Amino acid sequence: MKHRRVLRAAVTVAVTGALAAGMTMALTTSANAGTTLRASAAEKGRYFGAAVATGKLSTGAYTTILNREFNSVVAENEMKWDATEPQQGRFSYTGGDRLVSHAQANGMSVRGHALLWYQQEPGWAQNMSGSALRSAMINHVTQVATHFRGKIYAWDVVNEAFADGGGGGRRDSNLQRTGNDWIEAAFRAARVADPGAKLCYNDYNTDGINAKSTGIYNMVRDFKSRGVPIDCVGFQSHLGTSLAGDYQANLQRFADLGVDVQITELDVMTGGNQANIYGAVTRACMNVSRCTGITTWGVRDCDSWRGSDNALLFDCNGNKKAAYTSVLNALNAGPGIPTDPPTDPPTDPPTDPPTDPPTDPPTVGCAASVSLNSWNGGFVATVKVTAGSAGTSGWNVGFTLPSGASVTNTWSATASGSTGTVRFANVNYNGRLGAGQVTEFGFQGTGSASGVTPTCTAS
Ligand code: XIL
Repeated sequence: MKHRRVLRAAVTVAVTGALAAGMTMALTTSANAGTTLRASAAEKGRYFGAAVATGKLSTGAYTTILNREFNSVVAENEMKWDATEPQQGRFSYTGGDRLVSHAQANGMSVRGHALLWYQQEPGWAQNMSGSALRSAMINHVTQVATHFRGKIYAWDVVNEAFADGGGGGRRDSNLQRTGNDWIEAAFRAARVADPGAKLCYNDYNTDGINAKSTGIYNMVRDFKSRGVPIDCVGFQSHLGTSLAGDYQANLQRFADLGVDVQITELDVMTGGNQANIYGAVTRACMNVSRCTGITTWGVRDCDSWRGSDNALLFDCNGNKKAAYTSVLNALNAGPGIPTDPPTDPPTDPPTDPPTDPPTDPPTVGCAASVSLNSWNGGFVATVKVTAGSAGTSGWNVGFTLPSGASVTNTWSATASGSTGTVRFANVNYNGRLGAGQVTEFGFQGTGSASGVTPTCTAS
């Protein structure tokens, strides 16, 4: 098939320095550790996601794992240009909409992938160039980001625009030939169309400090200095049998530019090191406070575009592999995201609310705490609800938002109101909590929610 690329240099380039020393450290798991990837990631303020082929959502064995283990999804193909605009000006959102509904019904956030990419362009666009292509591509960004407005946590606005090899420059493509400013034009159009989505640049072979990742680093630094709207960088991380020793340092240098980083398409060649590499990547993300989440590029080995590499966390029968345990342990052992944004007063109590029944005078009712991920013009709030000693059969969390702030999207709760005092009620599957038990919900909004404090009432 045209688009199924043979495994690229990404997985064959063996970067030496291999496994960081920390990888051999014994892992201790906290007493309150989660037992699923999604719960453990959420406890640490992150998401754990999977790429989904929407056709598989009707396969029970697949959705059972997806819904149990993952709280973020990305369309493996359904939001790409060839899928969403098969003919110029005729848009098709069936697959993408289906995935968004599944996500909303199951408490998952959605990564959008990808607005512009030199591969999987529809035939009509492949045949275009110059100013006609420039306006067609900007129109594509505007239309698609507008359609999904308020439903996307982060968009890969531009995918794979840098060349492999030593130069650190752009890859040649018809998009690039419309002018070197095509990337910033795309980001500006995406920001206007969906001001609440984080806007990411996404690429592969960026798994350490190398010429390609440095080229991207320089672009991000330039964008930040000139006010081009970029919020995040995605590291695909299609990996082979070793991992660059400076994988974490590379994530950190991007984070230090003032963008979030995410592991966006993780898969690892099978072999002796698979579990170790998965663990090391997860630890690297946990150690970078602006690393907001990890996505594996599929669920089970047989769902993977990498076929016989058996590159994922579940085998073809849906069993957890050693790599799964390694990721889960790393999530449970990792630090949480401290406070963000760094300049705001802390919104979390200094330590996490206890998840064990307290021994002191027991709390009746419930407690709520919020962690904010903010950017200029928007925010995502992750709210932790902890049941008191009596447990809950339902809960309700209220916020008074500053003026100008508005809720655009909610997951794992039902919102009433969108401005001023907004209340969030449990949905049917997370209202009943045992004593001390914790659940999470989230919402996204425009404006600033800095300084908000939740109040929790239980029934
Ligand atoms: C892959 C899909 O997994 C395949 O089903 C499709 O045939 C080709 O694309 N980098 C990306 C992803 O950004 O979109 C690619 O997905 C994998 C490499």
